[in-house]
Amino acid sequence: MQTAVRQIAGRGKTIAIVPTMGAFHKGHLSLIRRAMKEADVVVTTIFVNPAQFGPKEDLGKYPRDLKADIAQIKATLGRRARSAIVFTPKAADIYPEDFETWVMVEKLTKTLEGAKRPTHFRGVTTVVAKLFNICRPDVAIFGMKDYQQAIVLKRMTKDLGYPIKYVIAPTVREPDGLAMSSRNRYFDDTARWEAVCLYYALESAKSMVKAGILSVKRIEKEMQAVILATCPTAEIVYIAFTDLDSLELVKKVQRGTICSLSVKVHGVSLIDNMKLG
Ligand code: PAF
Repeated sequence: MQTAVRQIAGRGKTIAIVPTMGAFHKGHLSLIRRAMKEADVVVTTIFVNPAQFGPKEDLGKYPRDLKADIAQIKATLGRRARSAIVFTPKAADIYPEDFETWVMVEKLTKTLEGAKRPTHFRGVTTVVAKLFNICRPDVAIFGMKDYQQAIVLKRMTKDLGYPIKYVIAPTVREPDGLAMSSRNRYFDDTARWEAVCLYYALESAKSMVKAGILSVKRIEKEMQAVILATCPTAEIVYIAFTDLDSLELVKKVQRGTICSLSVKVHGVSLIDNMKLG
């Protein structure tokens, strides 16, 4: 991989990286399409990163389908597939036995997902730093769906001085509004239908803000009711209203407020977000 990227740079070509854990859906493909617009060569990395899963999380059952992923990348890239690279390192390549160096973003990782998954973000930042070091991209594309991840990685990119254009691409949704996620494959029909509760809650928040209701307490109460009306067994992990960049909690929706939520639907952890102000 390092030789390949040196050759690409030597030819004066630019590289856009799309880091992924595979199990592709339309959201991933939209990131690849964006990468095609941003640079000459698209490098898609596929690596189910053990370091970002907690001991009780779904590392073992996380969906893996490399053959189908590569076929989808090829179909998306069309003629550009000839110059594209899919990088699929093994865990031992990224984390050799004596591995002991971690990249950590301090404050931004303490809230939201970081509060309930204490080692998650250090796994994400470490693997992405390693992928940046190996692939030397000019542009990196991440999805808005994993919003906190996108903000944390943006800070890491800036703080470590990577000369990389950082792009956050919009969330791609199913026709009913459910954000695309590799974990949606876990659902049976009922659970899949009820999973739309996150989107309904976010839409209800948006309507309340439009109607002039800015109190986070009031909006949160309504969102909880919407979630439970759509999915009576849902476990709401958090509903948070924060500043878009600092991720600091706000009491009133204002310019730059984003609402993020995490809900367990039939045992599957889903996250979503929407800009409200
Ligand atoms: O969003 C993901 O798929 C992963 O967290 C990432 C960024 C590829 C790091 O493993």
